[in-house]
Amino acid sequence: MREKTLYVTTFLLFALLIFASLTENKPTENEKPVIGILQYVSHPSLDEIADGIKEGLAESDYNEENSEILLLNAQGEQNKIQTMGQQLIQRSDVLIGIATPAAQGLANQTTKIPIVMGAISYPEKAGLVKDETQPDSNITGVSDRSPVAAQLDLMTQLMPQLKKIGLLFSSNEDNAKAQAQEMTEIAESRGFVVSSYVVSSTNDIKVVSQKALSENDALYLPTDNTIASGFETVVANAKQAQKPIFPSVSQQVTLGGLATMGINQKQLGIETGRMAAEILQGKKVADLPVYVFDHGEKIINEKVAAELGIPLTAEIKKDAQLVGEVQP
Ligand code: TRP
Repeated sequence: MREKTLYVTTFLLFALLIFASLTENKPTENEKPVIGILQYVSHPSLDEIADGIKEGLAESDYNEENSEILLLNAQGEQNKIQTMGQQLIQRSDVLIGIATPAAQGLANQTTKIPIVMGAISYPEKAGLVKDETQPDSNITGVSDRSPVAAQLDLMTQLMPQLKKIGLLFSSNEDNAKAQAQEMTEIAESRGFVVSSYVVSSTNDIKVVSQKALSENDALYLPTDNTIASGFETVVANAKQAQKPIFPSVSQQVTLGGLATMGINQKQLGIETGRMAAEILQGKKVADLPVYVFDHGEKIINEKVAAELGIPLTAEIKKDAQLVGEVQP
């Protein structure tokens, strides 16, 4: 009789222990995987990337029903990157940072939860990974590397008399600084005169872009989030100065830039979403090298070309997507 009681008590104790260990740390009402996305700021390209991410996740069967997709937008503010990053880190199984400042903010706050970089131009120069081909921390993802040389080729084709190029970008974006440096090296080696014009926030865009436009034949814009957020101001100034803007993304050609070789932003997002899904399915960050997009599609704004009196030859139009149709 005594022994039986002992057995039963021991059994019950074990059962209790096993039950307790199974339920530990698991929020009872929520077993869904949580995907935490931090978007640096809103502008048409990043918004498209965010849409692409949801599409890529859905392709891999992670949707709003079977998973929790938390998307927070820091609206370009450093303190929001901190607080929102913290919020996401507390809940997420995988994190995604859209644009360099967001990815850097997440990386500063966790070395454990996997981070997928969404559209980071220069992951190594931004201090996010040591070697893109061999991630050795909790960070991997997708890079959008503008085809700078091909962009310069297109600029030269459209403006054979081009000599002075002004670069407009922000002092606090590693992505843009690195791209500006790359363009400077390539263009100077080809004999162009290149000058940098730097803003520290959107507030500076009006004055600084005006100066840049007046001192150069054309303006070149790296993929810079600050400039992208105040892009209408640059367009208004360029119209007044009757000078072309050469952006790095197609959205900005549609909105009044002249032309570019641009990387498909939706595609960047889709690939980012897919990578996050692979991690949720158990893949290790170390087995996922950074995926680099560096192939641009030609896009030209016909209306802007006409306004500037720039002829579009058949050669230039070849394989180009034309926007801003001119009415005959
Ligand atoms: N590549 C940028 C970064 O590293 C983010 C970005 C993607 C972007 N597409 C853009 C910035 C278009 C400006 C315009 O932060």
